[in-house]
Order: sequence, then C-alpha cells, then structure tokens
Amino acid sequence: MRRLHATHGPVAALEDEGRRLAFVFSPAHVQEVLTDVATYHSQFFAIRGSRNCAQRRVTSNILTQNGGEHKRFRRLVMGPFQKKCFEPYHEVLAKLAGNLVASWQPGETRNMFREMTRYMLRVTSVLLFGCDVDGLAYEIGRDIERWVALNHAVGIGAFVPDAGAGASYDDLLSAAASLEQKVLALIEHRRSAGAAGDDVLSRLIEAHDDSGLGMTDAELIGQTTVLFGAAHLTTANTLTWTLFLLAQHPRVASLLVQELSAALGGAVPSLRQLEGLPLLDAVLKESMRILPASAYSHRVNVRPVQFGDLRLPSGTPIIFSQVITHHVPELFPEPEAFLPERWRRISPSPYAYFPFAAGPRMCIGAGLATMILKLTLTAILQNFRFTVVPGATIDARVNWTMLNPASGMLMRLLPLKAWFADVPVNGSVHDLVDLRAARASRIAGYPATHLGQSARAA
Ligand code: HEM
Repeated sequence: MRRLHATHGPVAALEDEGRRLAFVFSPAHVQEVLTDVATYHSQFFAIRGSRNCAQRRVTSNILTQNGGEHKRFRRLVMGPFQKKCFEPYHEVLAKLAGNLVASWQPGETRNMFREMTRYMLRVTSVLLFGCDVDGLAYEIGRDIERWVALNHAVGIGAFVPDAGAGASYDDLLSAAASLEQKVLALIEHRRSAGAAGDDVLSRLIEAHDDSGLGMTDAELIGQTTVLFGAAHLTTANTLTWTLFLLAQHPRVASLLVQELSAALGGAVPSLRQLEGLPLLDAVLKESMRILPASAYSHRVNVRPVQFGDLRLPSGTPIIFSQVITHHVPELFPEPEAFLPERWRRISPSPYAYFPFAAGPRMCIGAGLATMILKLTLTAILQNFRFTVVPGATIDARVNWTMLNPASGMLMRLLPLKAWFADVPVNGSVHDLVDLRAARASRIAGYPATHLGQSARAA
C-alpha cells in the first residue's frame, strides 16, 4: 500500500487475471466510501458459509450487515455503548486495572503484548459479558484469533485468485462451530446468573426495537462474537503501542506522569477527570495516528463507480487505510515523528484521521475503548516506570486487518523512582516511527528539565 501510494497518489488499483482491487487514500475519497453506505457495502467477512451453518450465524453481525438490517441492529447494539451507561463499567475497570498492576513487580521483564492481550480478554469478558470465568474468556479469545485468521486466509480468495486459499475452508467451518459453542456457553452463563447485570450482554438480552422486537439467540451469537473480537484485539494493540511510544519518548512520558500526578495525586481518575487530561488525550490520539490498531478495512461497491480516471465495476473491493492516510505528510507534517503536541494545533477532518473509522459505520466502542485506554495507562503510569528491553526486535506487521506488534514487546518494569529511558531497538517499527526524532527536544513550550533521558546518551 505504501508503494502504491508513493507511486500513484490518492487512488490506485491492482489487477490480476481481470480482478481488481482498488485503494483510496485521500480524505475526499475515504469520505465518499465511508459515508455513501447505499453504494459502498461492508463485506467484512467474505466467507459466510451455507444458510444453516455456524459460520453464517457468527458472521451475522453489524460488521457484515448492510442497509435496513444494519441500521436496526446497530441501533439495538449501540444502546449499552452510550456514555450514560459508563459509570458501572468505570468501576469494574478500575478494579481490573488495579489487579493488573498489582500482579507486576519492579525489576520484571514482561512481554507487554501478551500482558495487554490477556488483560483485554479479562476486561472484555467482565465488562461486556459480566463473566469473570478466566478459562472461558481465554478459550474464546484463542478461538476468535484462530477463526479471524482463517477468515482472512480463506477470504483472500474473494479478492485475488489463490488456489491455496480454499484448502482451509473446512478448518474455517469447524473453527466457527467451536467458537459458536463457546459464545453460546457465555450467553447461557449470563442468563443463568439470574437478574440482569450492568454488563453489555445483559443489556443486549433485554434490548428491543420500537416495535418491541428483541434479539433471538442466533442473533445474539452473531453480535456477541463481533463485540468480543472487535474489543479485545484492537484495544490490546493500542495499549501495547502506546506503552512502546511512551517508553521510547522519555520526555513525553515524564510530562505525562507530571500531568497525572498534578491532576490526580495517585488516585483513580473519575470519568470526569479522565476527560480533563489534555496530554493523555494527545498521547493517545498521536499513538492511534502513527500506529493505528486498525490498519485498513474495505467496502465493496454495488454499482459501477468512478474515481478520477479509474472506473470500477460493481463488486470491486475498495480498501481504505488508516496506516497510509495517517502518514500522508500533507495532512500530518513529519508523519513518522511521534509528536503529541501537534494535537494542540490541528483538528483534522474525520476522513483524514479515522482510527475508529467514521460515518454511519463508525466504531460503536470508540468511547468505551477510550475510557479503557485512559484508565489503564493511568494505572500503569501511577505504579511503574518502564523501558523496552535494549536490542529487542519490534515488528509492526499487518495481521488480518490489524497492525500488531507481531514479534511481541519485551519491556522491563522499573520502580517509580527510576527514569524513563529510550533504548536502541530493531525491527520494522522503524518504517513507521522515526525514533531518532524522539531525542530531539520537541515538546514546544514544555520545560527541558531532566524529565527523561536517553539510555544511549546516558
Ligand atoms: C482501540 C480500540 C478500537 C479500535 C481502534 C476500533 C476500530 C474500529 C474500526 C476502524 C471500525 C470500522 C471497521 C470497518 O468499517 O470496516 C470499527 C467498527 C466496530 N467496532 Fe471498533 N475499535 C476499537 C474498539 C472497539 C470496542 C471496545 C468495541 C465494542 C466493545 C468495538 C466494536 C465495534 C463494532 C461493533 C464495529 C462495527 C460498527 C458497524 O459496522 O456499524 N470496537 N472499530
């Protein structure tokens, strides 16, 4: 995608044996694709399986639905994600973040990608499903990762001819069946708990539309699966990337610690306080700009469309990519530099900066994810300093649609009296983040005190 963008600019296409795959990178084109939902349909899961199979049921969710069906279910599913529902989620989350930091000791080296993934599995199962059954959450998490990977491997055949892609079809169907059983167990566990709880699933079981119609078990399975999948991997990736960026930008990390201690003095932030932490907000925005967890997604046009010189017949997969558009220098000067302070000056269009997508299909979990990210990062920063292990390989790889720290994220936890320190690292993360820029003092307007240091300089 980077080569296509560098060579062809805002619109590009690949063609193989008469089949086209199109790419739109400019905010104007992204806006068209994200807002004209009558022309550009979502087909997130290309392989739906036959009418009565588990694959059809687990993929019947708002990520795949279109038109009136999408509207109806989006309205039902969105209820529990409104801000007015957040108070009980905040309480549960504060406890889980507290448990996380209590399970760590200064001096330990941990793979933060694994830590954040396990933590988010726990958060997802408790917050979304009122279920603190570790074993079941981890099993579902593992099943979902395998199922998503198989969807991608088999589904790629819908984009480009690939004789090998069909070989895993049976594996995909059996992965869907196993996943469905576990998600059903989660729903039954919730039902058997008796009185409806404050969790998202309880609210979905109770939800009904204007005509009084609720969701059937099969519908609940589809929507529940997508929520579990959409919530834990994206948020775990964002947490891991943000910890990495903070560790490698000691000055920013130290200023953030100052902001948190001035505003909170070590206490757990309330929902209101979370909204009044400008540097934390800017750090997260910049982290999701430079290393967006959702690297790309696509739509399929249901009528012929024209982008500049490029005419696309109906049924062409059209890809839009956060990782490309967020790095366009005309939109974000010095795109590879991690500069949270840029957010004091800029207010980009929602189609130039779209970590949660935009328009009628924008992520319904954006507000909840932001709360989880802010509360968790605060808990970590109030209890530890941390550095990346010197010489670690940090690869930023697009797996499925996500930008993963694919080689893991080895970090050393330090006591609060230690300083942050950036270290030399290897790996493809250098393609997206200019870590040399970190050492230049760039936080304009902030005092250049001994807030952080470079391990190499030291
Ligand atoms: C940092 C965390 C997250 C990121 C970066 C993220 C990103 C995204 C993006 C880019 C989309 C649009 C995908 C497309 O149109 O193809 C999306 C959709 C969606 N997300 Fe998230 N997401 C995050 C967290 C969550 C959470 C916590 C939940 C729910 C608990 C959630 C639920 C959904 C759902 C249900 C959709 C489909 C919306 C629709 O099609 O109408 N996401 N997300």
